[in-house]
Amino acid sequence: MHYGLIGARLGYSYSKIIHEQLASYTYDLIPMNEEEFKDYMDRKDFAAINVTIPYKKAVLPYLTHISPQANAMGAVNTIVNRGNELYGYNTDYDGFLYTLKHHKINVAGQKVLVLGYGGASLAILQVLKDLQAGQIVIVNRTVRDGAISYEEAKQLHTDATILINTTSVGTSPDVDKAPIDLAEFIHLSAVVDIIYNPSVTKLLSQAQEMGITAVNGLDMLVAQAKYAVEYFLETEIPDTRIEEVKEYIEKNVMNE
Ligand code: ATR
Repeated sequence: MHYGLIGARLGYSYSKIIHEQLASYTYDLIPMNEEEFKDYMDRKDFAAINVTIPYKKAVLPYLTHISPQANAMGAVNTIVNRGNELYGYNTDYDGFLYTLKHHKINVAGQKVLVLGYGGASLAILQVLKDLQAGQIVIVNRTVRDGAISYEEAKQLHTDATILINTTSVGTSPDVDKAPIDLAEFIHLSAVVDIIYNPSVTKLLSQAQEMGITAVNGLDMLVAQAKYAVEYFLETEIPDTRIEEVKEYIEKNVMNE
C-alpha cells in the first residue's frame, strides 16, 4: 500500500517534494500507460493517490463515492482507498479557491476571461461559477462548446476585470511566448497564470508592468497538495503550511 501520483508523463512533477514536505509518507511518481492504468485501478493496491493528465476523468468508473464538486466538473484528482472502496475528490478546486482567497481576488459579479478549455480549466471554471462570477468568457485556440477565439476576445471583451490563463503557453522553455497581449485590457485588476515554471511568465510580467495583481500557479499547486494530504490522512493542516512549502519550493527547487 502506498501514496503517490499516477499520470502519463510525470518527469516534471514537483508533487513528490511537496507531499514529502507536508506529510511523513513516501510519495511515489507512478507514470503509466492506459493498459497499466486499468490494471492499477482494478487492483486498488494503494492507500491514497493523486491523479493527473490524462486520467482525471477515466478514474470516475472505479469510484464508489465522489464529492459534489468533483462530480459537478466530472474530474477527480484525489482518491482515498477506504476498506477497498474508492472515494474521489477534486482538490484542484480547493487549490484555486485558496489562490483567489489568499490574493484577495474577488470574482463575484466580475467579468472573467478564462484562456484555455482543456483539463486544467475545469476546476477553475467550477470555482468561478460557484463564486458567482458575473460573466465567464472562455477563450480558446479551438473555438468549440461556447468558447470564443482570441480575436473575438480582443474585439469584444477588453472590459474584463480578471483574466486567468489555463493554457500551457509560456511554460519553460517557451518563456518568450504569451497566450495573449494584455495591452488593450486596461480594466484588468488581476491576472492568474496556472503556470509555475517560470515563476513569472511573459503574461505575468506584462501584468506587473501594468500595475495589476499577478499570481502564478504555485499557490494552486501547493494548495491542492495540502488539501489532498488532508483527505489522505484525515487530518487538518493549517494554511500557513502552504506558504512555507511555497517558499521552500521557490528557494530549493525552482531556478536550479
Ligand atoms: P489538457 O490540459 O486537457 O491535456 P492541453 O492539450 O494541455 O489539454 O491543452 C490545454 C489548453 O491549452 C487547451 O485549451 C489548448 O487549446 P486547444 O483546445 O485549442 O488545443 C490550449 N493550448 C495548448 N497549446 C496552445 C497554444 N500553442 N496556443 C493556444 N492555446 C494552446
